[in-house]
Amino acid sequence: MKKIDLSAENKKLQSKVSTLEELLKEYEETAIEQSKYLEERNKELEQSKDQLALLANITTTSPDAILLTNKEGCIVLANTQVEKLLGYTREELLGKKIEMLIPERFRDSHIQQRLDYYANPSVRLMGINLEIFSLHKDGREIPVEISLSTLETKEGKVVLSLIRNITERKRLEGVVLQSEKMAAVGQLAGGVAHEINNPLGVILGFAQGVVKRIQPGDNFEMPLKSIEREALRCKTLVQDLLTFSRAGKMEKEETDLNQTIESSLSLILAQAKTKNTELIKDLAPDLSQILVNKNQIQQVLINLCNNAMDAMPSGGKIFVRTKKSKLNDENAIELQVEDTGQGIPKEFQSKIFEPFFTTKEVGKGTGLGLSLVYEIIQKHEGQIKVESEINKGTLFKIYLPMKGL
Ligand SMILES: Nc1ncnc2c1ncn2[C@@H]1O[C@H](COP(=O)(O)OP(=O)(O)OP(=O)(O)O)[C@@H](O)[C@H]1O
Ligand SMILES: [Mg+2]
Repeated sequence: MKKIDLSAENKKLQSKVSTLEELLKEYEETAIEQSKYLEERNKELEQSKDQLALLANITTTSPDAILLTNKEGCIVLANTQVEKLLGYTREELLGKKIEMLIPERFRDSHIQQRLDYYANPSVRLMGINLEIFSLHKDGREIPVEISLSTLETKEGKVVLSLIRNITERKRLEGVVLQSEKMAAVGQLAGGVAHEINNPLGVILGFAQGVVKRIQPGDNFEMPLKSIEREALRCKTLVQDLLTFSRAGKMEKEETDLNQTIESSLSLILAQAKTKNTELIKDLAPDLSQILVNKNQIQQVLINLCNNAMDAMPSGGKIFVRTKKSKLNDENAIELQVEDTGQGIPKEFQSKIFEPFFTTKEVGKGTGLGLSLVYEIIQKHEGQIKVESEINKGTLFKIYLPMKGL
């Protein structure tokens, strides 16, 4: 029988046990390290989740449109305000070049500016003393102010653009500028008109008196009738100028706007017929009464229709519509005058309401019609907008508030 060396076996076993113990210790240590590592990663994850939630919160609640772009100029984040401002869904934007949101004529220079900014960033405000525009999905250009900064992320530096729509601010600036001009012109014009009114009355009175007395066919018939006609034209002009200068002095009364429109249109019906122009009315039957100055509203319509007829020398259609609407969230009546005429070039659209802006030849237009319209609508605390397309036509939209009734 073989004799077993117990002490040797024991030693072997003991060394195995100690190796196992060492291994176990090693395992324990790595397990602790790993769990520490996992804990740290978890913490980081939680932190970045918090940061993401914070960023998402900031971006969704921000009144400004927020865009993040990467080194290549591709959009990596867009908040809901971007969707609202520019008409694209987030999916349509993500991964695309930022230049898709910039009008074509600025695109090339923008690429260079973007690269320069990325290489040498600073907090910067674009659009101060400089007109900049974003391009809406439907092709409209929206005036904006953009502030730029950069963020460091794991994927590298990204550019954060805060985009603010300044359409309303620009409109208000325009209104202030316009009313300052109006006030200056009004003062001057009012004074001159007042002085001209009296001698003009005398000229017209005598001319009309003589015209009545002369026999048909008389040599003086034509010149005298011309004097009468031209004096009458001057009188209308003087009246227009006086309306201008009488800012504030305006009496409003409860009015059925549709009725005022009907009576104004009856005044131009004959003229429209001779000019081969069809007047098409579409007046909402359920409009409430509104506080306006009837004479002035009549003047607005006549001016707009006259312009429409001038824009359609070989005839066309004028649509006059009324409907319930909103102006700054308040109830309003919308009055539309649309024609099928030659349209207004884009570069003139911001000028047409300025006093004395005209594209008509001397003697045909003084450029007071629309500034008068504008002034009247301002006095009614309303708004006027124009949409026009060359050779298709022009649409004027007037919003009159229902306040006070
Ligand atoms: N419906 C329209 N279609 C095309 N152009 C228009 C229209 N309405 C206005 N315009 C443009 O706006 C300019 C200014 O219009 P506004 O009525 O102020 O002056 P005017 O018609 O030229 O002169 P006035 O009305 O004093 O006789 C016009 O000369 C014309 O170029
Ligand atoms: Mg006119």
